[in-house]
Amino acid sequence: MAHRVRVGIAGTGSYVPERVVPNSEFEKFLDTSDEWIVQRTGIRERRFAAPGQATSDLSLIAAQRALENAGMKAEDLDLIVLGTLTPDFLLPSTACLVQDRLGAKRAAAFDCNAACTGFITALNTGEAFVAAGRAKRVLVIGAETLSRFIDLKDRSSCILFGDGAGAAVLAPYDECGKGEILDTRMGADGSGYDFIHMRGGGSRLPPTQESVEQGEHFIRLKGREVYRFAVTYMSDLIADLTKGYDPSELGLIVPHQVNRRIIDAALERLGMDDSKVVVNIQDYANTSAATVPIALDEALRAGRLDKGKLCVMVAFGAGLTWGGTLIRW
Ligand SMILES: CC(C)(COP(=O)(O)OP(=O)(O)OC[C@H]1O[C@@H](n2cnc3c(N)ncnc32)[C@H](O)[C@@H]1OP(=O)(O)O)[C@@H](O)C(=O)NCCC(=O)NCCS
Repeated sequence: MAHRVRVGIAGTGSYVPERVVPNSEFEKFLDTSDEWIVQRTGIRERRFAAPGQATSDLSLIAAQRALENAGMKAEDLDLIVLGTLTPDFLLPSTACLVQDRLGAKRAAAFDCNAACTGFITALNTGEAFVAAGRAKRVLVIGAETLSRFIDLKDRSSCILFGDGAGAAVLAPYDECGKGEILDTRMGADGSGYDFIHMRGGGSRLPPTQESVEQGEHFIRLKGREVYRFAVTYMSDLIADLTKGYDPSELGLIVPHQVNRRIIDAALERLGMDDSKVVVNIQDYANTSAATVPIALDEALRAGRLDKGKLCVMVAFGAGLTWGGTLIRW
């Protein structure tokens, strides 16, 4: 095998839109309550993008913050990989819009759609490029504007989601000296494609007046099925990625923020307490591909990960897809 370049996370950044939407907003037009939402999900509020603010706008700010944190310029980038299920357009990719607005003149750019596993998929893809010596500095982003794709008449799904973006800059570990990526996982099971699903707008069901009126362009969920899958995969991925390491080495667990109860059930299955886990679902709800990089960025800026400690990031979502990354800070 060719020599593998060790890859590190040189910097992180995140951004959430200004508009705060508390649970009480939903009480005004839905048969729901703040109490139900908090008890069943842990969510207290979320952020919604302003009119006209799209996924590339959120991505751009998160990316600029990550570059600044890494001490790099946009011209240094060789590649941009952006995970999203809510792109600005079906065509072209949101990564290209970010590439242009950042001024990353030398960078190739593409999106990956792995739904809530989008950031982990972008991160693991970027890692593979740097490790193989095909790129040196890669910007990876997870960003969503889910508020545009929720059916405000469907109480079982619309209360779950929010908007936001997070980003990380990858570079050779020898250059940046931190956040070494030790291991990665990715998997898929398309037989569960309709657990989390947006039927309309693609080649299967192109938009028509009827399909729009029937709300085919909104996210639909089989919440209970996802719940069971999520608890199993979250705990199995964490166990798999940290196998062989002493538990005292683990500094931080950054899980996809899908439901506070799912995180708690996964930790219970692992026999772990919640002292090392990053939870911000109460503030931002589920921002799909953006949950992991926002949580990582906030935890790092808060100084929650000591030098030399391990950090495990895990996510799962529509596809079905799942993935994880183990780093040493
Ligand atoms: C959606 C989710 C919060 C529902 O929680 P739950 O405890 O499983 O609740 P249930 O679906 O069993 O519903 C319980 C009852 O609450 C009702 N309910 C659902 N949404 C409600 C709301 N917003 N307010 C009040 N009641 C609600 C249901 O209609 C149901 O009523 P019924 O018993 O009369 O039929 C939970 O299943 C979940 O988080 N799933 C994963 C979410 C997901 O797929 N995220 C995206 C992928 S990453």
